[in-house]
Formats: sequence, structure tokens, C-alpha cells
Amino acid sequence: MAILQRSEWYDLARTTNWTPKYVTDSELFPEEMSGARDVPAEKWESYDEPYKVSYAEYVKVQREKDAGAYSVKAALERSQMFEDADPGWLSILKAHYGAIALGEYAAMSAEARMVRFGRAPGMRNMATFGMMDENRHGQIQLYFPHEYCKKDRQFDWAHKAYHTNEWGAIAARHTFDDLFMARSATEIAVMLTFAFETGFTNMQFLGLAADAAEAGDYTFSSLISSIQTDESRHAQIGAPALQILIENGKKEDAQKLVDIAIARAWRIFAVLTGPSMDYYTPLEHRKQSFKEFMQEWIVGQFERSLLDMGLSLPWYWNQMVDEFDYQHHAYHLGIWFWRPTVWWNPAAGMTPECRDWLEEKYPGWNDTFGKCWDVIIDNLLAGRPELTVPETLPIVCNMSQIPICAIPGDRWKVQDHPLDHEGRTYHFNSAIDRWVFQQNPARYRDHMTLVDRFLAGHIQPMNLMGALQYMNLAPGEIGDDAHQYAWVERYRNHPYQRKAA
Ligand SMILES: [Fe+2]
Ligand SMILES: [Fe+2]
Repeated sequence: MAILQRSEWYDLARTTNWTPKYVTDSELFPEEMSGARDVPAEKWESYDEPYKVSYAEYVKVQREKDAGAYSVKAALERSQMFEDADPGWLSILKAHYGAIALGEYAAMSAEARMVRFGRAPGMRNMATFGMMDENRHGQIQLYFPHEYCKKDRQFDWAHKAYHTNEWGAIAARHTFDDLFMARSATEIAVMLTFAFETGFTNMQFLGLAADAAEAGDYTFSSLISSIQTDESRHAQIGAPALQILIENGKKEDAQKLVDIAIARAWRIFAVLTGPSMDYYTPLEHRKQSFKEFMQEWIVGQFERSLLDMGLSLPWYWNQMVDEFDYQHHAYHLGIWFWRPTVWWNPAAGMTPECRDWLEEKYPGWNDTFGKCWDVIIDNLLAGRPELTVPETLPIVCNMSQIPICAIPGDRWKVQDHPLDHEGRTYHFNSAIDRWVFQQNPARYRDHMTLVDRFLAGHIQPMNLMGALQYMNLAPGEIGDDAHQYAWVERYRNHPYQRKAA
């Protein structure tokens, strides 16, 4: 039987829509789930996805991708990667899998919402493939770390993290629930696929793929490159949806969705990707600093896509770009100090050579963050490690769920941005986080940060041990310095001499 070329039937098949007989249109596509925003169905039918693929083609290509990634894994099963890898690299793997694997399942549900409730037939079609992509990402990123569980139980957190009240897991859930899970199909197209995936996932996936290959972890490198090829396809669901919104007088609304999503995505990537790139990756394997990566992908490329789309830059754009200089350094310092509260072992990344690199990439680093590390180093050298671990919890941002922090030392700039709303005072890391809250207070107001829960007595006993139990961090899972403080010896009898500029 002759088989038609895709181009001969695709346009007909992809625009399949129908007029319901037994229910009304609004029952079939409730506004809450579709988010069509009064843009009529025929306008949505003009949706034109830039990436066209048939089911048969999709399955063939995906099968090959899976076969590729799984066979690299099988071929390298007996390699010594795990044993030979720098402990900082293993920490990147643990942090990545815990933060991302079940987030992929969340993304699958989000894609499924677009499959069912997307107002444009082409969007439903694309999202069907996107949903299967995300299912694959969830499965493969659970399967790969599973093998490491027997060597190191922190890898169990690939599956466990999202089921706990560990603070990073709360932060990730809060963000992903906001951007993907509790949104309509149209909002998901804009917030998840356009803002989050076009803008940010490149950094985690392309950035880490390059670092992984450098670090000799070809299994991980091929795994995340394979995922990234799916992302670059289904991330294109958002742009045509945005176009329809803009053409139909909904630009302001679309802009707000984009601005909220970028603000929230930036925080998650700053806390996850920032320390990975600038501290955990062994110095000799670093390709670019986190800031350089942000400038290339967010300022250089994503800024263009925003403007080409006819959108404006978010009102806070300059402030966010300023944060590239310091926010992730502050997060890293905090994560290392509160290291018992994470499911991986933070690498300090603090040898004299690392500090020279940081000073070169971030001029002034020694006068600010370096001064805090000096105190930590002095305490460790003096045999007083107890002064380098926390006794209680920091103030946590009511939006990002991450501690409020910024620049310490000579250029001190740490500020709470509070807001009183219906008799409760909320605390925010920046005016940007507060602005997100103000866009829809009812959506966010009842959530309790880890510290709110602590103060409300949910965490017993009210000390660090109680908090660790609340976070489900069992012995053997509780984080500690990745290199068991070996780097501190570099400073004994050799005070840090800043390299002359
Ligand atoms: Fe994914
Ligand atoms: Fe995705």
C-alpha cells in the first residue's frame, strides 16, 4: 500500500477540531483549565507549531535516542567513573537527580493538561509528544542514579527528594506547582515551555553536558544531551501560543505570565546550577562561569527571543542581571554552611586556585564572600568545626522558599523586603519576589515556609536534629563537606595570598 508523505496529510490531521454536540464549548474547555482568555477558537486554530513531526517519526527517533543513552550507560557500567570522579562531581549528580527527576513527572502532567485542554489543535498535538518526552525524562533520570544507590544512599534522593519536606524540595515544588501544575494549558505553554524551557533549562542541560564530558562522565553527558534534544523541540509549544495572545490584545497578560515565570525560574537555577558550575565542578573542568553562561543564554539569546516575540523585557531585568554577580555565591555559602540540610555533600570549591578564579570572574569576590570563607577556614584550622555548622534556621523567602541572602563583607547588601497582607507579615529576598506575590496574593498567602512551620511548632524538637528529621534526612544521607575538609590543609601555615591583579 502506498504511504502518503507527511507533508500531504499533516496539515489536515493537525488541525482536527470539532463542534461538540452534547456539551457546550465551555464545558469541554473550561476557562480554568484552558486559559483561552476569550480568544475565539478560530483564532486559536491559526496556531502554527514550528516543529512538525508525525507519531511514527517521533517513536522512531525517540527509540534511537533511548537506545543511544542506555547503551552508553551499559558500555560504561564497569568503568571506574564513580570511584575516580571528584566528589564535587558526584554532588552535582545527586543534586541534579533529586531536584530534576520528579520535576520531569510534574512537567509530564503539565504537558498532559495542554494535550487535553489546549485550545489549539496543533498545540495539543505537540504537547502529546511533549508529555511522552517528559515521561521518558522522569524514567531515565530515575533509572540511571538507581544503580548508584548501593554505593551511596544519597542517590536514593533522586526518587525521595520530592516526597520530603527538605527545604530545597519545598522550594522546587513551590516553584513547579506555581509554573506547571496549578496553571491552565495556555499559561503552561507560556510559563513552562517558553519561559522556563526556552530560557533556562538550556543552562542546566547544555552547561552540565559540557562539564560532564570534561569531567569524563560520558554516561551523564549522553543522558542529558539526549534529554535536551527533546526539550528543544517541545519548548517550541509556547511561542506560537504567545503570538496568538499578543495578536488578540492579551499582551499585558502574557507579559505578566512571562515575568512571573522568569523570576521564579531564575531563583531555582541560581540555587541549583550556580553552585554546581562555579564551585562543585572541579576547577580544571570548568568551561565558563555561571555568570558567563547566564550572559550568553539569558542576556544574549533569551533576551532576543523575548523582544522578537514582541514582548518587553521584564521590568526587573537589570536587577536580575545584577544578581548574576552575587546571588548564587550567597546561596552556595548558605548551602555549604547548612550542609547537613541537603541530600548531597556540598563541595566548598575553596582552594587558593579556586579563589583566584572566583576573583577573576567576579572582581571583588574576596572582599565580600571571601571574607566569610576566611572565617570558616580560620575556624576549621583552629580545630573548631562546630563553629562552621548552623544551630538554627535562616529567614526564608516567602516566594522562593530559599533563605534571604545577598552580598556580605565590605559591600554588605542584605535586605528583607517585607509585606503586610491580611494581618500576616511576609518576607522576601527581593522586590521581584514580593512583586510576584502581589500579582495574586490569594494564590500564595497560605503557604508556610520551613521557618513558618518551625515557628508554628510543626518541627519537634525545635532544634537542628528536629529539623533534619522533619526533612527526612536520615544518617548517611545528611550532607557534609564533599572533600572531607582536605582543602583546608592548603591554608595551614600558608595564609591566602591574593594573586596580584
Ligand atoms: Fe524534561
Ligand atoms: Fe521539558
